[in-house]
Amino acid sequence: MSKNTDNLQVIKVITRERPYDVLVGSNLLDQVGTEVRTAVGGDAAFVVTDTNVGPLYLRRVEQSLADAGYRTVSITIPAGEQHKRLDTFGTIVEAMAEAGLTRSSVVVALGGGVVGDMAGFAAASYMRGVCVVQVPTSLLAMVDSSVGGKTAIDLDAGKNLVGAFHQPSLVLADVGCLSTLHPDVFVDGIGEVVKHAVLADADLFDELAAHPLSQDGDPAYLARIVARNVEIKRNVVAADERELGLRQTLNLGHTIGHAVEAASDFKLGHGHCVAIGLCAVARAAEGLGWCEPGLSTRIERCVEAQGLPIDTDLPHEMLLSFAVRDKKRRASHVNLVVARDIADVDIRSVSVEELARVIELGCASALRRS
Ligand SMILES: NC(=O)c1ccc[n+]([C@@H]2O[C@H](COP(=O)([O-])OP(=O)(O)OC[C@H]3O[C@@H](n4cnc5c(N)ncnc54)[C@H](O)[C@@H]3O)[C@@H](O)[C@H]2O)c1
Ligand SMILES: [Zn+2]
Repeated sequence: MSKNTDNLQVIKVITRERPYDVLVGSNLLDQVGTEVRTAVGGDAAFVVTDTNVGPLYLRRVEQSLADAGYRTVSITIPAGEQHKRLDTFGTIVEAMAEAGLTRSSVVVALGGGVVGDMAGFAAASYMRGVCVVQVPTSLLAMVDSSVGGKTAIDLDAGKNLVGAFHQPSLVLADVGCLSTLHPDVFVDGIGEVVKHAVLADADLFDELAAHPLSQDGDPAYLARIVARNVEIKRNVVAADERELGLRQTLNLGHTIGHAVEAASDFKLGHGHCVAIGLCAVARAAEGLGWCEPGLSTRIERCVEAQGLPIDTDLPHEMLLSFAVRDKKRRASHVNLVVARDIADVDIRSVSVEELARVIELGCASALRRS
């Protein structure tokens, strides 16, 4: 392991495909080459990045890979979810072929969740699978999308409709990258951090309720928070790699969250919507006697402390119609993840009528109160 890397935390992930390490720390970008060499080996490295991240970090990563003996080729794709599409995917795999990549080459995804998902899917598909190393640069990518092996692109019909399970060979999260994120994008990523805390860690929850995360805060602190989130996701995913049961608990806040996201025409960030979803379900759960009294106020305080919204005034009928369109729907029922308490969640199969009641009790109720 690298000696000159600060605040290094190593999380080991065991999967059926392969075990891999998630390294979290600062100044890790300069170690990408040696770490990829140790974890994967190979001859050529193909770096995928985007037009925001590339100018900031590509040169350092390419230099590090070259120093470790890799022939390095890179592609910079336009930044943004609107480019997580088939045509960009086509451009990436064509460039991989043109660069003469073989099955002993490695793809390095340097960017947020969009780059991670697309580079991951390109690596899963090219020659039926080459190794991918995830180098997440956004908070969301560090705590969520880079771990778990899901890769995807969007279609006209919906988000993430084409993809593959393809586990990374290594994940390197350099928390120093967080300082250059747009502040709104950083705060948006905290939505999933709060979700993880509600799901599995009462201490983390209390810490988040007391201290807002800062993107240029103490790197050791940030590394510890990111590493704890990776562990939480790892623990859930390890128990259910293919999303058959337990992994659904990661959807906490997402049934209502996705509905808010769609109803806002994707103007509100995903993490903001998850935060609203967490609070809305907690308020409804309390009204229905499904959770500890006082839980919704605790969750609202934590969400507010992190600068995220706790409610929406979007019309209930609109939210319901989007919520039942959610892909997690099974027949006439929807699987709704409900917290009974912090670090104690339940998957409830609710009818459309019950979901309507959840929305009625949970949404706009905090706004009415204030
Ligand atoms: N595969 C999974 O399991 C999984 C899980 C959750 C989300 N996702 C996917 O992740 C995507 C969202 O990820 P995201 O929020 O990282 O979006 P993103 O990749 O679009 O990044 C957000 C913005 O920040 C910029 N950026 C990233 N890192 C930066 C840095 N260090 N400095 C400056 N700018 C930087 C990007 O260029 C972009 O403009 C969605 O497409 C979602 O579907 C996947
Ligand atoms: Zn999410």
